[in-house]
Amino acid sequence: MRKFAPESKITVRTAGNEPYDLLLRGSFDALGAALTDLGCSGRRLCIVTDSNVSSYYLDAVKEQIRPVASRLEVYEFEAGESSKTLDVVRGLYEKLITCGFDRQDYLVALGGGVVGDLTGYAAATYLRGIRFVQIPTTLLAQIDSSIGGKTGVDFDQYKNMVGAFHQPSLVYINTEALQTLPEDQFASGMGELLKYGISLDADFYEWTIDHMSEIEEREPEVLAAMITRCCQLKQYIVEKDPTEKGERALLNFGHTIGHAIEKLKDFQLLHGECVALGTVAAAYISWQRGMLDEDEFYEIRDMNVGFGLPISFDGLSSQAVVDATRKDKKMDGGQIRFILLKKLGRAYIATDVTEKEMLEAVDALNAERD
Ligand code: GLY
Repeated sequence: MRKFAPESKITVRTAGNEPYDLLLRGSFDALGAALTDLGCSGRRLCIVTDSNVSSYYLDAVKEQIRPVASRLEVYEFEAGESSKTLDVVRGLYEKLITCGFDRQDYLVALGGGVVGDLTGYAAATYLRGIRFVQIPTTLLAQIDSSIGGKTGVDFDQYKNMVGAFHQPSLVYINTEALQTLPEDQFASGMGELLKYGISLDADFYEWTIDHMSEIEEREPEVLAAMITRCCQLKQYIVEKDPTEKGERALLNFGHTIGHAIEKLKDFQLLHGECVALGTVAAAYISWQRGMLDEDEFYEIRDMNVGFGLPISFDGLSSQAVVDATRKDKKMDGGQIRFILLKKLGRAYIATDVTEKEMLEAVDALNAERD
């Protein structure tokens, strides 16, 4: 079996943007030096965080930033998807204006996907763009959302409907932060993580199955190796296609049906749980098209069970889920860009998935089907 080992630094180079490092560390101890190297000395920095994360990590991060920054501000908001709004961004703009932040100053996103996406969006738009640093503290943010510059907020029921591409200047990943992550948040991160192996790297998929118990135990070396592999895959994709004109869409594997369920459930299920359901649906269609065999489909489905993720939902009609996919962003001239598998570890963009195929796949997940 192929081995996957931790790396301490991966550099992301996208056309038209400054290269930036993903630093993988086991503590916050190297953060101050990393910010100094970046050029933050003597600049104003504003940490943006939420009410959950601040109690764990705000003091440790402040301690690192204080000797570097000329002024340190903190903007904290209520944890949860319901805060990912333009109103919360507005509050942040007000703080930045009041504190005199200019184009040389930095935002620092300390938290999970909501904090990272919202802070990135504020950084992309304040004064037409200032720099920002990502310090992701959830598994989902460490392997996916903090990397690649997708930023944004939700609008009404529409997830990430308002946003911009704006690359971070640094992503500082403290893998030790995962030790305090609640079980459901860890499982949600695994829902997003499984997509990498299933859709892009069959060896990594096998490795993940093989290391299931060490991952569940949160064995630090295994987590660091797993996060490293995801960061490498994400780096590879975003360098080729930073603004999702083509290949980056492969990272949306599991997201078409996943987003539809997430929205209809009014965000009561976590994002990675919904992606895990969407992954099973996409694998189901791939199986029905003869691109996976039955054993492969059931192995993918049962991985969810192994990692504490759902394989069914209730309380929604299958037709409503399929209808909701049409309101997703992943449309191309009215056609859904559905990510399917040619085989395990090899995803492709399909624009010919029919309503009937989707309905059958969603039915297979629906605990209340007739
Ligand atoms: N989370 C998918 C992407 O960054 O493209």
